[in-house]
Parts: sequence; structure tokens; C-alpha cells
Amino acid sequence: MTLMNDFPSVPDLEAEAYKRMPKFAWDYLAGAAGDERGLAHNRAAYDAVRFVADYLPERRAPNTKHTIFGQTFDFPFGVSPVGQSGLIWPRSAEYLAAAAKKRNIPFCLSMLATSSIEKIGAIAGKNAWFQLYPVRDPGITKDILDRAKAAGFGALLVTVDTPAGRRTLRDQRNGLTVPPRMSPFNLARMFAHPAWLAATMAQGLPKFETMVPYYPPDADITGVAALQNTIMARGMDLKGLEAVRKMWDGPMLCKGVLSASDARDCQNIGVEGVVLSNHGGRQSESLISPLEALPSVRDAVGDKLVVTVDSGSRSGLDVARAMALGADFVFMGRAFMFAVCALGEAGADHVAELLGIEFAQAMGQIGCFEIKNLPRHLASDRGNSWPSNRPN
Ligand SMILES: Cc1cc2nc3c(=O)[nH]c(=O)nc-3n(C[C@H](O)[C@H](O)[C@H](O)COP(=O)(O)O)c2cc1C
Repeated sequence: MTLMNDFPSVPDLEAEAYKRMPKFAWDYLAGAAGDERGLAHNRAAYDAVRFVADYLPERRAPNTKHTIFGQTFDFPFGVSPVGQSGLIWPRSAEYLAAAAKKRNIPFCLSMLATSSIEKIGAIAGKNAWFQLYPVRDPGITKDILDRAKAAGFGALLVTVDTPAGRRTLRDQRNGLTVPPRMSPFNLARMFAHPAWLAATMAQGLPKFETMVPYYPPDADITGVAALQNTIMARGMDLKGLEAVRKMWDGPMLCKGVLSASDARDCQNIGVEGVVLSNHGGRQSESLISPLEALPSVRDAVGDKLVVTVDSGSRSGLDVARAMALGADFVFMGRAFMFAVCALGEAGADHVAELLGIEFAQAMGQIGCFEIKNLPRHLASDRGNSWPSNRPN
């Protein structure tokens, strides 16, 4: 019995996570906006990418290492930022940061995670990247970024795709609040999931550790309302992004880009990269998949901008698919979180190893030994017109 046999794929981990989590936590992690068809659309974009295999060239081990912003990682994928991480599974950010350091991939810490900048910097050093949401007071933004720099974070992601409130109907139906309301209904659900409850009791109520110094006096530091009403801003426009650019002297990516014009704007103000993302379908069910956006963004910016993607990837094969379409790097949110929710600390390392094995196998199977050659194996580029590499 090994983890690799018991949980040989992300969907296996997802099924186990579902069993171990109270409904409100599961729905917060797995759910999406509106009718949730954005999730299926993101998936369809990946499933439609097909490869042509070359079996006869001389065999060698695929080289999975990949350099981005001067940092060489063992694989071209990393962990997306996930807010309210401790509500989903206590200490999940710490477990994933440690696994990322061990397996040499990047871990992005959300500003709204429940583990602090300082804690994660000490665990993952340069493998830790920091994700910033729009904040009203530039003084607070500067202070947060100075802390990330002092803690040794390697790069900055600035998320711009939350300009309007989101309609996540599962959360509304569950009456999800942070911290969770101790209604009889929620309490019953917590007690029905003893592993989650024990981990939560050991850790204490999650709070937004990075943000604690900025709460107004007397505010409840475990609550999200004080943050939203006093500290955070809605969206961020180009002027705001440019101001952040001037405060951070390392590599910076704008997260949530879906249009060629936004990508070009980023390039014009000296932002080095973008994360093409629809926030995993969590902001609107109507948005284009980042894989669909990739060709037009690439046409607009050429090789001068680092173009990474997230939203919908669930395997090492998916990473190969996105890289073949021209991505420079791939991030995953739920895939990593499902693993921690399924297996706790052991899940973080397991999924990092699993995704690496899947990625190397995907390359080996099609006879591709260098990441830069993946595009040559796309079915659509080899005269195979069916199935198309574009989702319907
Ligand atoms: C539970 C959850 C919380 C998230 N919190 C944040 C966040 O705090 N900041 C952010 O930029 N993106 C956040 N995201 C979006 C992820 O960073 C990423 O874009 C998304 O998960 C990618 O899609 P995938 O889950 O299909 O891989 C969150 C996603 C999930 C699932």
C-alpha cells in the first residue's frame, strides 16, 4: 500500500477530500461562480488538446527543468495563491510551501491566506512568491511588499480580476462567513468530519495573519468583513498597477489577465509577466478559458512578456498541454488543495511528486525530451485537424 497506488491521480485525491471536509469548506474550495459552467469550460479547453507521438527518435529521459525569471525549477508548474487557506484545511499553506521547497517548484502565498508572510518565507525562501490584492492605502501596500521582500520572496503576483463582488451560490446557500458561524447546522457538519475538526482545534480559529497589523483597533481579526470594509479595494486599474510596480524591485506578474490589450498594457509599464487566469471559474461562469486567450496574447506580446496560465489544470499531462500551446509556466490551485484536504501534510508532497511524474510521463510518451519542443507535438500543428485543439 503506497500513496501512489491509493491516490494515483488528482481526482482520487479530490474524492477523498470531499469525504473529509465539512460541506461549507468543501463548497468554498470546489465551487465556482454562478451556474458553475465555467469549471466545465476550463476543463474542456484542456481535454481538447491532443498530441502526436514520435516513437522512433533515439530515446532519452525528458528534461523537466524550467527557468523563469532567472530561477530554475524542477518542473514548469507551481501552486496558485489560495485565500482563507486555514478554513479549507488548517496549515495547508505551510504544508504546500514546505512541499514546494522540497520539490523545487514555486508556491504563491495569498495575501488572504491564514499563514503569514514571515512564516511562509521562513519555510520556502525564494520558492515562495507573494500574491497581492488591491489595497486602499498605498502605505499598507508598501509595508506588505517590504515584508515580502525581507522574508525573501522570489516574485510578486498582483491580482486584478476581482473588480466586482462574486456570486458563489454554494457559499451563499451555506451562509458561509469567516470565521464560520457556529450554527447548529454548521456545528453538526464539523463534528461529522473529525479529521478536519481535530486539525482545526489544534490550530485555533484561522485569521488573516499577514493582515493583522492593518486591522482597525477593536476589529475582529478573525473576520473578513473588517478587511473588506476598511482595508481592501475592489479592482486595480493600470495606474494602480504602475504604482505597485514602482514599489517592488523584483519580478512581477499581473494575475487575472484574459485580453491581449491588458497584456500589452502590462508590458508597457514594465510588468514582466502575466498569469492568464479566470480565477478557476470563481469570478464569473462566462469568462474565456486562459488556454483560449493564450494565442492572441502571445501574438500581441511575442516572447517579451512571461505568459503563465492557471484555471482547470488537474494533472502533469495538463501542464504539458498548456506548455505545448505556448505557456511559459502553469499554476494550479484546487489540485494542490484537494491533496492536502485528502491527506494533510503528506498530501502536499504526494501531489507535487505525482504531478512531476505525470508531466515526465506525458513528455516521454510523445517522444518529447525538451519542454521547448512540446509545441511540435500538437495534433493541430501536424496536419491532424480532428479533434481541434480549441474548445467548442
Ligand atoms: C479556494 C480558493 C481560494 C482562492 N483564493 C485566491 C486568492 O486569495 N488570491 C488569488 O489571486 N487567487 C485566488 N484563487 C484563485 C487561484 O489562485 C487560481 O487562479 C485558481 O485556483 C486556478 O484554478 P484551478 O483551481 O482550476 O487550478 C483561489 C482559488 C480557490 C480555489
